[in-house]
Formats: sequence, structure tokens, C-alpha cells
Amino acid sequence: MTVETGLTALFSALDSARLSADQIDAPYLSALIGYSDRNPQRLHVPGHGGGAGADPILVGAIGPSPLRLDVPQDLDGVDLGPSPTPYERAEELAAEAYGAGRTWFLTNGASQGNHVICLALAPSGTRVVVQRNCHGSVFDGLVLSGGSPYSVLPGYDDALGIATVVTPDRLRAALRACPAARAAMIVSPTYFGMVADVAGCVEVAAELGVTLVVDCAWGAHFGFRTDLPQTPLRLGADIALTSTHKHAGSMGQSAMLHVAPGREELRGALGRSMRLMRSTSPSSLLLASLDAARRQLVVRGSQLLGDVIAAAGRLRDRIEQIPGCEVLDRSWSGSDVAAWDPLRIVVDVRGTGISAEAITARLRRRDVVPEFHTQTSIVLVIPLGLTPAAAEGVADALGAAVAEGPGRVEAKQSPVAGIPATGGAPPISPREAFLGTHEVVAREAAVGRLSAEAISAYPPGIPTLLPGEKITAEALEHLLSLHAAGLRLHGASDPELRTLLVTR
Ligand SMILES: Cc1ncc(COP(=O)(O)O)c(C=O)c1O
Repeated sequence: MTVETGLTALFSALDSARLSADQIDAPYLSALIGYSDRNPQRLHVPGHGGGAGADPILVGAIGPSPLRLDVPQDLDGVDLGPSPTPYERAEELAAEAYGAGRTWFLTNGASQGNHVICLALAPSGTRVVVQRNCHGSVFDGLVLSGGSPYSVLPGYDDALGIATVVTPDRLRAALRACPAARAAMIVSPTYFGMVADVAGCVEVAAELGVTLVVDCAWGAHFGFRTDLPQTPLRLGADIALTSTHKHAGSMGQSAMLHVAPGREELRGALGRSMRLMRSTSPSSLLLASLDAARRQLVVRGSQLLGDVIAAAGRLRDRIEQIPGCEVLDRSWSGSDVAAWDPLRIVVDVRGTGISAEAITARLRRRDVVPEFHTQTSIVLVIPLGLTPAAAEGVADALGAAVAEGPGRVEAKQSPVAGIPATGGAPPISPREAFLGTHEVVAREAAVGRLSAEAISAYPPGIPTLLPGEKITAEALEHLLSLHAAGLRLHGASDPELRTLLVTR
């Protein structure tokens, strides 16, 4: 294909998707390049002066370009000057690509987005319905805002020890049980690639008059191919969060917060909270990587994603041929999952008789590094650009790791702990529990007390215990079993869980 026919095809694709021709540009990145090429005398931060003052080892490792592009806010022709500035235009193009009315670029991950959402939607004294297996940053956001959660339990697969999604019926029941809530926050896709019936949840939220937030941190690539789920905003959600660095090619820690078109009051509330949660020196590199990731998704996302989905499909086929391994999205028989993210492969290894921890360690020894393991499964995040040859290499390594057999005692599987979390409202708000007076008690004495800390296995960062929640023997047993399976307990004042921090 010549450049010209390629461009004609691209413009007609943009046209049919009703996107502007400007989508082929990355205006903010281009403005940074322009500034760097002019090579001005820099008398501003960052104080490495465009690289001259940076450590030579750093310059050698990352090259001179990133340092030249590392600039502060408020530069003429970049994010200052006649509106829309290149920066404003970059956020506008992202909003258009995701079906939003307004998009904010984030430089502290989707975590920052959840903090902003909580400040905007869950002020002190209010309640918000939240999916119990949402990311810990939601509950941290509630510590900041003073709002209280009313937890809606997702489905739970007891055998696998994996929480699933919230269905429209579960959401309706929670909203009816908590009529004071004016907003609901759900997660889709989940950490395990499970996609919820977002359109159904949108209908429920509309029926009950609440704002629906979809944490689509893991779905920044959704909507960029017809065989992928649609973006939450195009399905009618009011607010969505995409952790662009996870699957959509931007740099670590960069993400986007989107609000639906026409929601002026939400836009105002989110904008005010954004100012509070934003550094006055956001990294221009992270911002530019968001601009470029959006450009790439629009311009060649369909091809890029198609290639990687095909490679991931072949990897699934190969994994299924390894004795004792099952691929969750192919073996799943539950009914609440509406679709699966093809870029997430969850391998249920129970049939091998070897623990997921041991198989993960064996893969790492072969320099194949999975995202995470649970007690039963290994989670693979499929990166953009995974080649068919690399996919074959992963399958070979997994086959060899399993072929080593159960071996030593620690390679044996341990039993899976049941669902640890309770739904509904905790006795006191996360803020009261986190900021109030505390004491440290021995684990055995903690049962029945109110937790002053959020404790999650990390990744995926889904809390088993929340600040303000009553500590149950089941929650402690669950955390201990995760710890025994080799997972890190994030947020625990004592990572060995011999003691816990409780409210006085
Ligand atoms: C559902 C969900 N939301 C938000 C986050 C936070 O994302 P980030 O790491 O970009 O801050 C995560 C992280 O894994 C997540 O899984």
C-alpha cells in the first residue's frame, strides 16, 4: 500500500467513526519537539537544564531526547497562548477518541483519577455504592473525601478464589438498599479480564437516577476495534477512567479521566477536584506519551490490536495443550461475565498439581515474567506488540515449567480461602477510621475490632480489609492464605500480619 492510499483509507476510517482528521496528529508531543528543536536557553525547571545537568549514567541509559523533552508547565506555544493550546487540543482529541465531553490527562495513574472522582462525587457525609473488589485507590479516595462506601458484592468463584463482576441486578439491589447514594462505581474489565454488562448497569443507573462511574483502568484499548468491547462512555456511562499505561501504550503512571458529553455539573466538580490532586509540575513526558498513545490507537490501533489479539489467541491454543492448564476465558461457565478482554490470559493451573507460585517462579527463572499469580492461576498481561514468535516462547516456557512436575513440598497447591468480604456499609467511614486514633493489636485480638488500614494483596490491589470495616476471622484467614501463596500484603502495617492497626 502506498502512503497515499494508506492515508485515504485512514481518513475514510476517521470519517466513518466521526473523528476529526486532526486525530493523525499528536499536538502536544509535536509542540514539545518544536521547543526542544529550537534549543532555547532554559532558565526554568526541571533544573537538569534539558540534560546538561543530568547524571551521565542516566543520559546514557535513556538517551538525551527524553531530557530535552522534559519541560515545565506554562510554556508559550505548548500549554500557554491562544486557546486551544496544543495541550488543550491533545485532551480534546483524547475526549473525541473515547466518546467523552472532556478528558483530563493524569500523571499519577488511574489512582489519581479515583481520588478525583471520590472528591467530586462522595463528599463528607454522603454515601456512594462501590463494587467491593474495586481498586484500593477508590477507598483511599474516600479517606480523602470523607464519603462512605456501600459495597456491592461481585460474583465470586469459590474454587478459583477469584471475584468477578457486578451484574445489573446486583447493582439495582445495592442502589435500592442504599437510596441515599447518588453515584455508583463499578469496575470493567476486572483485573482478570472479565467485562461487565456495562450497558445494563447504565440502564439501572438511569432508572434510579444515579451517576455511573466505570473504572475501565484495564480497558484503555476498548473501542478501538470492532471485536473489542465498546468504551464505557459510548455505552452511556457518565464517567470513565482508563489507565492508558496498562494496555494502550503510554508510559507508566499515565492515565486519563473522562466525563460524558453534556454533563456540565460533573465536569465542573471533577475539574475542581483535579486541581487539588494535580502536581504543579506534571511530567511532560507522561503527558506527551498519552497524546501519542491516543494517536496510535486511532491511527493504527485496529491493526496493532488485531495482530496482538491473534498472537494471544495462538498462545491460548498452545496453553490449552499443556497438561493440567486451562485458560479461564475458555473454560469459564459462570453467567455474569458479559465478555472477556483478549489481552488478558488467566491460566488456571490447578490441574497440574503444582502451585501457581512455583510455576511463576520457574517462569521467572526462564526470564518469562508474568504479571501476577493467585493461589490457583497465573495472570498474563499481553502487551501491544507481542509477536507470534514471542507468544510461542511463552508457551514453550510454561510447558517446560509444568513438565518439571510437582517437585518439592512448597510446589504443592494450598487450599483456596473463601470469599472474605462483606457487602453493605461499614460501621464508620474510611476517613474516620484512617484519621482517628489507633492502636496496634495482636492478630488474634483483632477479630471484631474496626480496621484502621486497607490491606490488599498486591497486585491486584483489591482490598480484603477496608478502614472502618469490622475485622472478621474469615478476612484474616483469607489474607494469611494469600500471604502463604507468596503474595505481598500491601497497606498492612505489619506485612507478616502478626499485628493489625485498629481504631480505638
Ligand atoms: C481497576 C483499577 N483501577 C485503578 C487502578 C490504579 O491504576 P494506576 O496503577 O494507573 O494508578 C488499578 C491498578 O491496577 C486497577 O486495577
